[in-house]
Amino acid sequence: MCGIVGYIGKNQALPFLLDGLKRLEYRGYDSSGICLKNNSGFYLAKKPGRISELESQIDQILAKGNIGIAHTRWATHGAPNEINSHPHVDCKGSIAIVHNGIIENYNSLKELLKGEGHIFVSDTDSEVVAHLVEKFYEGDLEVAVKKSLKLIEGAYALAVLDKTSEKIVVTRKSSPLVLGIGVGEIFVASDVPAMLSKTKRVIYLDDNEVAVLTKDGYAVKNINGFVVDKEIYEVAMDVEQIEKKGFKYFMLKEIFEQPEAIENTLRGRIKDGKIRLSVNFNPREINRIIITACGTSWYSGLIGKYLIEKLSGISVEVDYASEFRYRNPIVRQDDLIIVISQSGETADTLAALEEAKKKGAKTLGIINVVGSTIAREVDSGIYLHAGPEIGVASTKAFTCQVTALTLFALYLKQERGDLPSDVILEIENIPQKIKEILKKSEEIRELAKIFKDAKNFLYLGRNLNFPVALEGALKLKEISYIHAEGYPAAEMKHGPIALVDKHMPVVFICPQDAVYSKIISNMQEIKAREGNVIAVINKEDPKIRDLANYVIKVPETIDELSPIINVVPLQLLAYHIADLKGLNVDKPRNLAKSVTVE
Ligand code: AGP
Ligand code: GLU
Repeated sequence: MCGIVGYIGKNQALPFLLDGLKRLEYRGYDSSGICLKNNSGFYLAKKPGRISELESQIDQILAKGNIGIAHTRWATHGAPNEINSHPHVDCKGSIAIVHNGIIENYNSLKELLKGEGHIFVSDTDSEVVAHLVEKFYEGDLEVAVKKSLKLIEGAYALAVLDKTSEKIVVTRKSSPLVLGIGVGEIFVASDVPAMLSKTKRVIYLDDNEVAVLTKDGYAVKNINGFVVDKEIYEVAMDVEQIEKKGFKYFMLKEIFEQPEAIENTLRGRIKDGKIRLSVNFNPREINRIIITACGTSWYSGLIGKYLIEKLSGISVEVDYASEFRYRNPIVRQDDLIIVISQSGETADTLAALEEAKKKGAKTLGIINVVGSTIAREVDSGIYLHAGPEIGVASTKAFTCQVTALTLFALYLKQERGDLPSDVILEIENIPQKIKEILKKSEEIRELAKIFKDAKNFLYLGRNLNFPVALEGALKLKEISYIHAEGYPAAEMKHGPIALVDKHMPVVFICPQDAVYSKIISNMQEIKAREGNVIAVINKEDPKIRDLANYVIKVPETIDELSPIINVVPLQLLAYHIADLKGLNVDKPRNLAKSVTVE
């Protein structure tokens, strides 16, 4: 979504604000702005487009001040233009705010404030915050912000300045906000990468907490006004880790990081042939599992269903979080709800989690971002430890989610019977097997050159590899803008096969597993309609060589682990097609890395 950055301290604020905004670009945005407080009042600049355009507009002489806030916007209310960009100010231009999220009752608040004479200039929901603070301001910014919050409904991360106070007031509800603790300076941002170049000591604000930042330090209070003693985390990430390490795009770096990322997910969780996970529920008391997530995380959930049912015998349902949250789901006390989220900030997934908790279910999170909102809401969690995933298109988080789900399925099996040792032995070979596939990147790029101008793609798989077909199609769609559909291979006959002609590339994920002969028949059906077949195989087979136009061979593994292997060539195919089309692979149009609004 958007990014918020703030600074107060011994140095000029502007350099940190601009650098921080750039380090949050991956979150997706359409405009940006800054507000500095100095002796002559506010210096304010805001602009649609890239941060570099904002930077070129800033008057370096006037843009002084040791206190400042900044914002990258991903519009939800009001077009992405200059007037709707943040920061927003009150009628007198004496209060400035930046906001991430949605003010759900902004219309009624706007009418109330207009009725009291407030003049609005933008079409955004956020502007009401500036006028509310103005309404309640009697010299104490913190008090005015707290009174405003009592009227606001919805999701927000906020940073607020006024022209007279040497402070920044920040708060959050359902949108992330992190404080950075420096020496003689305090930083605030939506996410840790913005401040890593300055400090590794961070505090994660929780919902309804209000922090007052001054040059001398910070104070965090809860909704009742009591000071909260917040833990200071030492962040393991460093700026270097976040840089691209010589890869053209973060996405390619993250595809190549998968062996190491999966090793980190496994680290310490398999010992002496046993799975070691710390959960605060009794696995033997779980009678049903519901997995809920969005996008790629939902696809890993589908694989989780196959794995958990096959390995533990527990019934699993998988539900889109956006559906789960509104369908008044039946949730029983002995249900376990698993939420999967790379960012830990996805609004629909967070809402689904809250719905599940309201209904009394035990909850487990499979999350990548430490300290994220969802990570702090679940009863138990399995952190991926995949490292920061900056590319909007998820890659290493997906394979690490499947790895974590495999571990959890094995854990359930272990706690309810004996462990299938073949899976445990093989899972530790997966990182090396992925390295073998990564060596084929240039070979796959040659294939991408053939298909980069295709208008449509089909991805077909069966059983555990049907969700891999869905994920392969999503990767292509979201970064190359080519329409692609993932489908169960047998389902083609029930309609979609009408789409197949000689212009249609059809990717088959066809390891030699229990349904291999069936998928060969499906391939023959496609060939009979002149479809262009690209087959991902794990064993040589003359039949496939005759049928497929192109073959990508991946290392063999056991059925349960084949999705982690089979998705990697599909990630590379999507990446190379998008790159060959000259598109911005890391920041695809219309998308954000973390969708923190409905
Ligand atoms: C995946 O490539 C997409 N960026 C998107 O579908 C993503 O998986 C989805 O928004 C869920 O994000 P989360 O895992 O951070 O909750
Ligand atoms: N809802 C606000 C707007 O549209 C903030 C959106 C965001 O999080 O960037 O300006």
